[in-house]
Amino acid sequence: MSEAASLRAEPGAPRLLSGRTRVVGVFGDPVEHSLSPAMQNAALAALGLDWVYVPFHVKPAELPTAVRAIVSLGLVGVNVTVPHKVAVMDLLDEVDEEARLIGAVNTIVNRDGRLVGYNTDGLGFLQSLEEQAGRDPRGAEILVLGAGGAAQAIACSMAMRGAARVTIANRSLAKAQALAERIRPYAPAEWTSLSTDDPAFLKALRRAEIIVHTTTVGMHPHDDQPPIVPAELLEPSALVCDIVYRPRETTLIQAARARGCPVLTGEGMLAYQGAVALRLWTEMEPPATVMLATLTAQLAERPSERP
Ligand code: ATR
Repeated sequence: MSEAASLRAEPGAPRLLSGRTRVVGVFGDPVEHSLSPAMQNAALAALGLDWVYVPFHVKPAELPTAVRAIVSLGLVGVNVTVPHKVAVMDLLDEVDEEARLIGAVNTIVNRDGRLVGYNTDGLGFLQSLEEQAGRDPRGAEILVLGAGGAAQAIACSMAMRGAARVTIANRSLAKAQALAERIRPYAPAEWTSLSTDDPAFLKALRRAEIIVHTTTVGMHPHDDQPPIVPAELLEPSALVCDIVYRPRETTLIQAARARGCPVLTGEGMLAYQGAVALRLWTEMEPPATVMLATLTAQLAERPSERP
């Protein structure tokens, strides 16, 4: 039996802390709007673990001290969110290969005092794609819209999972090129980068089997901002994914629905990146359905708050 399993509380028991309660959490600045505590605590309760997930408001200057405290206080691990995802990398004992490639860490595991960093964003997206949309990127033509941190995580995971071609299309070409060049040597796929102003972008749209939107266009409070790709340019057979989850029905998702495309909305990636982190900490199968349901309820209750 794993150590985690031996610390199970009675299923359905009130969440009282005990002398054995183990702690996970999230480091962020700000952190008060994070949806992770509700989602992760619901998951820990569903697993029947005597664990608690706590938000920690960590200012940038305090990050090194806070990271050392993971070991001194015996935390199982933490999530790391804005603005610490890049800075934290230099403070760890080891960084997993995919996180190094992505250039950011969002999950730390305390392995007997050794701090190991992971990035679960890309895997979270992949699991959402597989579980919710029933799609496998193997051999597929992928078009990623945007070239920021989220695009990098998603492109990297798709290529590592066996996508045939990954096209990065971004407003600024230089950023798309830099992303493709950075990952190309490590992930066996055909890489193409282009500007969304390039006529070749239309060809990429026609060819794409899976389109993933990763920019901030249409994100709350800009809910009505027109999508990067208008409905008439979407092929009805393409799966259109938007990682923006606030609002859930972004202008791109609305355009894709109007065009008859299958769609994948953004809350799934958020839930599954949390589920992948929970699996790293507990070595147990995370209750993804509970996590997704809690997150969806939180988003409905707190429609305008930032994550
Ligand atoms: P994150 O790390 O959350 O993915 P980011 O690194 O700030 O976010 O990246 C934001 C992405 O949204 C970039 O691809 C950006 O395009 P540029 O590289 O050209 O700046 C894109 N983006 C933001 N606003 C945009 C807009 N109005 N039109 C098109 N793309 C936009």
